[in-house]
Amino acid sequence: MSQDCTFVIFGATGNLSQIKLMPALYHLDRAGMLTGNLRILACGRRDWTTQSCVEKVRGWVAEKARGQLDSAVLERFCQRIEYFNGDLDDPQMYGRLSAYLEDNSQLNVAYYMAIKPQDFGAVVDQLSAHQLLDESRGWRRVVIEKPFGFDLKSAQDLQEQVSRRLEERQVFRIDHYLAKGMVQNVLVFRFANLLMEPLWNRNYIDHVQITHSEQLGIGTRGRYYDESGALRDMIQSHLLQLLTLIAMESPVSMGAEELRDEKVKVLKSIRAMSDSDVQDHAHRAQYTAGYVNDASVCGYLEEDNVPAGSRTETYAALKLYIDNWRWQGVPFYLRTGKRLKKTQSMVSICFKKLPQTFFRDSGVTADTRNWLVLGIQPDACLRLEMTVKEPGLQMHTRTASLNAGFLDEEQSATDAYEDLLLDVIEGDQSLFLRWDEVEWAWRVVEPVLRAWEADQAPLDSYEAGSWGAIKSRRLFDDQSFHWRHGIYSAGEDE
Ligand code: BG6
Repeated sequence: MSQDCTFVIFGATGNLSQIKLMPALYHLDRAGMLTGNLRILACGRRDWTTQSCVEKVRGWVAEKARGQLDSAVLERFCQRIEYFNGDLDDPQMYGRLSAYLEDNSQLNVAYYMAIKPQDFGAVVDQLSAHQLLDESRGWRRVVIEKPFGFDLKSAQDLQEQVSRRLEERQVFRIDHYLAKGMVQNVLVFRFANLLMEPLWNRNYIDHVQITHSEQLGIGTRGRYYDESGALRDMIQSHLLQLLTLIAMESPVSMGAEELRDEKVKVLKSIRAMSDSDVQDHAHRAQYTAGYVNDASVCGYLEEDNVPAGSRTETYAALKLYIDNWRWQGVPFYLRTGKRLKKTQSMVSICFKKLPQTFFRDSGVTADTRNWLVLGIQPDACLRLEMTVKEPGLQMHTRTASLNAGFLDEEQSATDAYEDLLLDVIEGDQSLFLRWDEVEWAWRVVEPVLRAWEADQAPLDSYEAGSWGAIKSRRLFDDQSFHWRHGIYSAGEDE
């Protein structure tokens, strides 16, 4: 159940607040999910007033509202907002914040850190020093955006700092991917249908590909991205989370702890890479100038705030093995890149080849395979490819597919942040990362980060608007395989 609370947004004048948080809160209000007493305290350094902040928020919401903007709801929503001018580096700000919350007798408070990751620890310390995390009169929750750490050591240090002030049940580490409708559907598909379970293992599945591709470059995020790179930005977080949902055992219940226990088991079972394994299990590359949707775009090195000669990867591919009974020997290939040909995310599951060539002279060879494709975005869909006989007198075959889309024409998907913010208010941590998940995910990528940092060989490159580094195909155990680029076609060049 939604509860009365104050939603404090640190960094409320910034981009995340503009494109995600305020629109998501408005949509929750429109859906009737916010109680009458829910207040939003927008904190920022800029010299805004409540009035000027509300004016900004109106514009942000109008830009992102799904369907027609409901002006009555927008008015109600704006009434909830108050602007709080302050600098997070100024200890006095926390004293003022404490007095404000006291005066407004708000008992439950969620603090959303839409701020630089380097500041998370210091802000938590200050909140604690000013009794702003004290739960004697109501709950206090802290929402932390990714990245949680820069590598294993820095993540552990941050956790040490956070756990000194907060209990794990108060910490909501966001991975917005987990709240995408289709990502949640992976669990429903797996555990609410009996059909697939007997096939969901090493006996029937040849390999799994998890892809997130984007047409966008790094835009204005050069400073952040150059420190991060594709492996940290997407694989350590979002793609490993997707892998856990595909690979996990059925949890005892849908409870947050039970669900996360199973995900952690998967992460712990991923075979650790030695430094010498990295060469065969990981590939990286950087985009050069090219064309995306017929528009010419610059290369990574020409982007704003990217230092000359940067070796940051904008494309990363990884091969992982999960050492447990279900998945022994089944490679999981993870791949992501900026400035690729299409923007899409999907999981493609390739089944094993047939045991025998049965339909002689029919074109059905033992190599004909079934694929199951889970489209995450932009199409939330499921596609199962099977071999069928073509109509006609001869025994010719082709691939036919069972396709299921999940949104009716008139339905529009909710944004992941709507689910997440509601979960924070309701105190449901199932879609948030527990510390051990974050730690084990860092352990998985740590050897690759180390090896790439040490490796000074020339970096591979790919043209913007292409499907990325062709050489990454070398990761496939079976060299007849290729990356599956499209949901609707197994073809490599789609
Ligand atoms: C973010 C990354 O976490 O996820 C971005 O920092 C990436 O680089 C984004 O573009 C992808 O998420 P979505 O929801 O836009 O697919």
